[in-house]
Amino acid sequence: MPVNIVVGCQWGDEGKGKIVDLLSENVDICARYQGGANAGHSIVIRDKKYILHLIPSGILHSQTVCVIGNGVVIDLATLFDEIEFLNSHHIDVQGRLLISNLAHVILSFHKLLDSEQERLKLTDKIGTTGRGIGPAYVDKYNRLGIRIIDLFNPVRLKKKIYSNLSQKHQESKNIYDLPEQSADKIVADCLNFADKIEPFVADTSLLLNEAIDEGKRLLLEGAQGTLLDVDFGTYPFVTSSNPVSGSACVGLGIGPTKIDKIIGVLKAYTTRVGEGPFPTEFSGKFAEQMRTLGDEYGATTGRPRRCGWFDAVIARYAARINGLDSFALTKLDVLDQLPELKICIAYRINGQQVTEFPADIDDLSNCKPEYITLPGWQTPTGGIRKRIDLPLNARNYISKIEALTGKPIAIISVGPDRRQTIYEQNI
Ligand code: GDP
Ligand code: IMO
Ligand code: MG
Repeated sequence: MPVNIVVGCQWGDEGKGKIVDLLSENVDICARYQGGANAGHSIVIRDKKYILHLIPSGILHSQTVCVIGNGVVIDLATLFDEIEFLNSHHIDVQGRLLISNLAHVILSFHKLLDSEQERLKLTDKIGTTGRGIGPAYVDKYNRLGIRIIDLFNPVRLKKKIYSNLSQKHQESKNIYDLPEQSADKIVADCLNFADKIEPFVADTSLLLNEAIDEGKRLLLEGAQGTLLDVDFGTYPFVTSSNPVSGSACVGLGIGPTKIDKIIGVLKAYTTRVGEGPFPTEFSGKFAEQMRTLGDEYGATTGRPRRCGWFDAVIARYAARINGLDSFALTKLDVLDQLPELKICIAYRINGQQVTEFPADIDDLSNCKPEYITLPGWQTPTGGIRKRIDLPLNARNYISKIEALTGKPIAIISVGPDRRQTIYEQNI
C-alpha cells in the first residue's frame, strides 16, 4: 500500500481517527491535507482516549512520521497544546512531526471573525466550530494570509499583518462591530512561536515525494467529510476546505499519479453537527436514545450530534466524488440493540424518485427519504473479530450497503478501541 487516502464520507466524525490510527501501524508517514483544529479525531487504546485536532492520527505509532501539509490551517497555540498533551502521555513528536512551511496560520482575529460572522447572520447560521477556519481560508484565497514561512522573516511578517489588519479594520468599521486589534500584539504573538516551531518546519512536499520515490508507505488523512466539502457538500452549510480525496494532492504537494487506494469512512448510521439539511435525521425520543447509544457528542466542541438512519444516496455520492476503492464501516455495534433498521435508498423530490444526491439545497431540505427496512440483530457485536462470526442480520445489513454502493467494505469497526476491528480484506 504505497500511498493511500482515508476520507470521510458523511458529515464528519465517521471514525476517521480510529481507522487512520489502525492503518498507520503499517505506514512510514501519515499526513493531514486540509482543515484545521475544527477536526476532532478520537483514538481509543485500551482505557485511554486521545483526541487529535491538528496532528495526524498516526502519531501514536512511534515509527510513524507525521506531516501537517500546506493545505492545513494551523492554530499555533492549539498545535503546541496538542504537542504538550502528547508529551504528557509519553508520546514524543520531536523529529517525527513535520509542518509545511507553506501552511497558513490562524490568527486570533480569525477566531473573532468566525464567531462574529455567525452572530450577525440572521438566517443560515452554519454552526461553525468557532476555530477561525473560514476566515483563515478567506485570507489565504484573498492572498492576505500569513504562512508558516513568514514567521521566520519578522520584517515581512509585520508588513503582512499590518496590511491584513488595516483591511480588516476598514471592514470591521463598515460591517462588523469588532474592537480594533493590535497589530503589534499579533506580530509579537507570532514571533513568540517562531523559535518553537522552527525544528518542525520543512518543505514537506519535497520530503513526501522523496519518500514515495524510496518506496515508503504513506497514509493521507482527510478531516471533516464529503458533505462538508465546500464544493460538493451541502453548501453553504459546509466547512471552508475540500475534505474530498482529490484535495489530498493539492494539500500535500503530491501528484495524482502517486495515489494508490482510497478508503472512505462511513458510520453505520448518519450524524451531523451544526446546521443544514439532513434528510434521514431522527426526531424525538429516538433521536436522544441513539445519541446516547452512540455517545454522539462532538470531539472538538462537545456539541450534541444530530443522528439519523444510514443514507445510501450519500454513500454512493461519496464513492463517486472520492473515487473510492473500499469503505471502512464504523460504529456497527451502536445498532446492536435495535429491533429493525432503515436504510435510505432514494429521495422523493416534487413527486419524483431521485437516486443521485441533489445539487439544490432546497431539494435536499424538502425531500422525503425512501427507506427499506431490515431486521436488527439484537446481539452484542463488540467482541467479534471476523465478519463471518457477526449475526446473520448484521452481515445482511453490511452486504446491503455494499450492494447499494457498489463498493466493498474492507474494514468493520465494532467499538471505539483499536482492537474492536474486523479486517475483511487487505486494502
Ligand atoms: P472522526 O472525526 O471521524 O475521527 O470521528 P470522531 O473521533 O469525531 O468521532 C467518532 C467517535 O466514535 C469517537 O468517539 C470514537 O472513539 C468512536 N468510535 C469510532 N469507531 C467506533 C465504533 O466502531 N464503535 C463505537 N461505539 N464507537 C466508535
Ligand atoms: P472531523 O474531522 C464534524 C462542521 C461544523 C459546521 C461546519 C463548518 O472531526 O470529522 P467550520 O468550523 O469548519 O467552519 O464549521 O462544519 N465541522 C465538522 N463536523 N466533524 C468535523 O471534523 C467538523 N469540522 C467542521 O460543525 O457545521
Ligand atoms: Mg471528529
